[in-house]
Amino acid sequence: MTPIYQTSTYVQEAPANHKGYEYARSQNPTRKALEDALAIIENGKYGLAFSSGVAATDAVVKLLQPGDEIVAANDMYGGTYRMFTKIFQKFGLKFHFVDMHNAENIKKYINSNTKLIWTETPTNPLMNVTDIAAVAAIAKENKILLAVDNTFASPYLQNPLYLGADIVMHSSTKYLGGHSDVIQGALIMNDTDLREKLYFIQKSCGAVPGPMDCFLVLRGIKTLHLRMHQHCVNGKKIAQWLRSHPKIGQVFWPGFEDHPNHSIAKKQMKDFGGMLSFELKSENAEESKKVLSKMKLFSLAESLGGVESLCNHPATMTHASIPREERLKIGLTDSLIRLSVGIEDADDLIDDLQQAIG
Ligand SMILES: Cc1ncc(COP(=O)(O)O)c(C=O)c1O
Repeated sequence: MTPIYQTSTYVQEAPANHKGYEYARSQNPTRKALEDALAIIENGKYGLAFSSGVAATDAVVKLLQPGDEIVAANDMYGGTYRMFTKIFQKFGLKFHFVDMHNAENIKKYINSNTKLIWTETPTNPLMNVTDIAAVAAIAKENKILLAVDNTFASPYLQNPLYLGADIVMHSSTKYLGGHSDVIQGALIMNDTDLREKLYFIQKSCGAVPGPMDCFLVLRGIKTLHLRMHQHCVNGKKIAQWLRSHPKIGQVFWPGFEDHPNHSIAKKQMKDFGGMLSFELKSENAEESKKVLSKMKLFSLAESLGGVESLCNHPATMTHASIPREERLKIGLTDSLIRLSVGIEDADDLIDDLQQAIG
């Protein structure tokens, strides 16, 4: 097994003559093994590991200069929106939040200052799907970097670099770690110059993960394919069960044939994953909160992608940092419930939903 190099500094042969490792903010052998594994599973040349998913996103935005413009999805993880609007806007970056359901929508926000397109697919929490290849074509034509947050799909289901993206980002906290015991992020890319710039940001700004956490994500990656397979099987069963329940309104899951971008999901993903969200027919937020409080096997918690199922109330939890008017504009209502379907017995999970929904 890869040792956990619990090492902050490395003995050198002579001044300016080291043995490949100087100081662990710059390099650590456990992290190096993980970064190589990240590159391999995303079919990229280079991987970089960060202390969290948001730290990985932060590094990408730091490639930019004041005055640069970013076209970002209008439906994505609330923490990404918060970073863009509350941290980076004040440094002179301009963000356009765009409905990327149709890639063509992006075109009218592109000008000579546009330097980055940021997308997430499927999106958190509404499971919208963006056509990565179509967005990549627009990005290439305009010489703009395309970064894709691939957290929900995981590298098992979708490989954005194959579809033309320049950078893949992961919250490794989720499916890569897989056991809800580590916070970590990742970037994967092919371009050597881009890797050097991102590595420079990584070591200069210092958001690096510790060796124990790198070991945990390395271990998680070994079972990614088995876990993802079961997440997909269970996700499908639960999505279909919810849809047939008389008290349930809309169910958001890209595997349904009438999902607005089902054909794109089918084209760019191997399967549809274990994330889904739904509304009660009553569309009553208090009712939704009651359902969430009654769940037993689904634990009420932030995060996703672990082997144990989680349930979440995006309006007050993961997406509370997005103003209510903005949330409502994209259809993220106060009554929406998000599920991260784990790998437990699917019938047990359905029994839990049945007793909670009634
Ligand atoms: C899609 C997505 N991207 C990024 C993040 C941020 O990752 P982290 O919590 O590891 O910083 C999250 C966290 O929930 C997420 O769901």
